[in-house]
Amino acid sequence: MSELPTFPAPMPTVGVAAADAYLEHGYHTVPGMSSRFAAAVCGRLLRLQTEIGLGGPIAEIGTFEGRFFIALALALTPGEVALGIDLFDWPNPQVLERFEANCLQHGLDAERRVTWKTDSRTMQPADILAKVGGKKLRFFHIDGEHSRDALTRDLDRAVAVMAPEGIIVLDDMLHPGYPTLMVAVQQWLERNPEWCPLAILDRETIVAATKFVLCRRDFFKSYEARMLEVFKANVWPLGADFEPHWCLVLGLDTRLAAIT
Ligand SMILES: C[S@@+](CC[C@H](N)C(=O)[O-])C[C@H]1O[C@@H](n2cnc3c(N)ncnc32)[C@H](O)[C@@H]1O
Repeated sequence: MSELPTFPAPMPTVGVAAADAYLEHGYHTVPGMSSRFAAAVCGRLLRLQTEIGLGGPIAEIGTFEGRFFIALALALTPGEVALGIDLFDWPNPQVLERFEANCLQHGLDAERRVTWKTDSRTMQPADILAKVGGKKLRFFHIDGEHSRDALTRDLDRAVAVMAPEGIIVLDDMLHPGYPTLMVAVQQWLERNPEWCPLAILDRETIVAATKFVLCRRDFFKSYEARMLEVFKANVWPLGADFEPHWCLVLGLDTRLAAIT
């Protein structure tokens, strides 16, 4: 007899002590919006990339006070850097000082990160690469301005700097406050058929919203195989019919509807 999923499913771990300690004790002390579940999955994805020999810098648009950024950066290996991009003007200009202080408090020293106060609408791919020593990125989290136009532009810029096996994660997908963002993603995927959805990370709350994980189609199968193993306890069995693609769904609630 097959075992029924337990609820809630276990919280994934990154497998990097500093990142797991931060997720356990520090994550909710840093103001921010992303879910701890998504941070744990993304940290584990970074370690998975390390395990397959993929190194390199990472970036986030919309670091705010650093909640998600710190979790990602702590999952990197020595010598890799995390680029944090934000306008750093909301809700007041002191957010930049709070970001720097939060990074230091949680063990993210200055040499492991690059802070870039800029408007992502003005960034050029060459500028992004220059900030991280010219290396292609292995992971990009996009959580800046939530308009269709801005998301499309941020995606275009990210894609231009990604390593072949790079992963792009989009925040606030299927969020009731931004219902049309999904339209931009679907249209962008139609224009960029070499990219596809790899996984949907289910929400914890409305604010700690769903994220989409994208990768190049050439790497979907190898990532999928590893993720089915690594995230076994968090796989929702039916997956997502993300027309014309199928992709994984990961969550803390993996139960199916009861059918009599
Ligand atoms: C929802 S908050 C990010 C939360 C954070 N990623 C987390 O998980 O806790 C969105 C951030 O995007 C930034 N932002 C909005 N538009 C931007 C733009 N055009 N360029 C850079 N940053 C932008 C805002 O300043 C804000 O800090």
